[in-house]
Amino acid sequence: MTASPEYTGHTQGGEQIRHIMSRIPLAVPFWDEECEKAAIRALSSGQWVKGPEAKKFGKEFAEWCGAITAVPCHSGSAALWAAMRVLEIGPGDEVIVPGMTFIATATSVSLVGAQPVFADIEKDYWCICPDDIISKITPKTKAIIGVHIFGQAFSSRLREICDQNGLWLIEDAAQAHGTTLAGVKAGAIGDVACFSFFPSKNMAVGGEGGMITTTVPDLAERLHMIVNHGRTDTLESVELGTNLRMSEVSAAIGRVQLKHIEKWIDKRRENASMINGTPMVRENTEHAWHQLCILSENPGNLISDLTNAGIDGRVYYPLPCNKHSVYSGHPQHRISLPNCDELASRLVAVPVHPALHQGDIERINSVLRL
Ligand SMILES: Cc1ncc(COP(=O)(O)O)c(C=O)c1O
Repeated sequence: MTASPEYTGHTQGGEQIRHIMSRIPLAVPFWDEECEKAAIRALSSGQWVKGPEAKKFGKEFAEWCGAITAVPCHSGSAALWAAMRVLEIGPGDEVIVPGMTFIATATSVSLVGAQPVFADIEKDYWCICPDDIISKITPKTKAIIGVHIFGQAFSSRLREICDQNGLWLIEDAAQAHGTTLAGVKAGAIGDVACFSFFPSKNMAVGGEGGMITTTVPDLAERLHMIVNHGRTDTLESVELGTNLRMSEVSAAIGRVQLKHIEKWIDKRRENASMINGTPMVRENTEHAWHQLCILSENPGNLISDLTNAGIDGRVYYPLPCNKHSVYSGHPQHRISLPNCDELASRLVAVPVHPALHQGDIERINSVLRL
């Protein structure tokens, strides 16, 4: 099967995307006239940073996800760094992270001089395994970073484990705009949550971007300061921070995207329900389907079948985090996290984004049936 020459792009939420593509891509950036107008409004205001757009974007995002405050920032990685700082995690501390995730989950811990401790993942849902977390808690453990991997909510046991052991719960929600756990949206499940607006994510800002949210009133003001050199209104720096602020143009675009997010997530869910081999969704949760990964016996063959059919596919993640050479000196570099080792390199993402047409889904299914 070859790519159909008629395949010429997408509508997203009913609006035309001006892309002509011969392949079905894994992600499609969205913008419309309203995004363009918002960007121009921010640009022509002359106030390119520290203006009303970022303030409003933070407020609207917090209202949407149910957090008490939300602070726009440079990226999901910057949000994770800010989470470490606001929770005063540093040298001598340990933070338990899943062995299979995007590397920034772990490196954010290393960047503040603390030690990431890798826990295995669940066989069925691919999120951090609660039983393995328990076996890895030591007197040095300060926090757990649960990742809602691919948009699948992590286990509700993480909250219980944190409460019982006096640990902070950080959500890595970079892939989880719209994920819910027991009716609560990602962003309001943990103590602090970190989102990414990288262009392929469920919503974006026309460049790099991120958001940090919190549900802990005492952390709210400090979060706002940490992205702005730890400064108070009197311009005194009272704690270590740096410039992680989001630009006004990005925030203006983000505000428009936020208006579409619910509709896009519904469409992702509808698409996922039609794709062959859709993975299991945890009970009492809603998946946000940032990625739809197929567990494959032969990922190389699956990717080449997808490629021959004009469909983009990609392995997430080819290597568990502890096995990356950046962690060659880490005590867990050579140890096996059995589920991470088994699943890494076997999960193949296929397109599930809201711009898919019915014909695209049929084409994807024709490969998944092979
Ligand atoms: C799970 C996870 N955490 C963190 C990040 C980092 O986000 P960013 O690329 O915006 O820095 C990503 C981005 O892909 C991610 O998927």
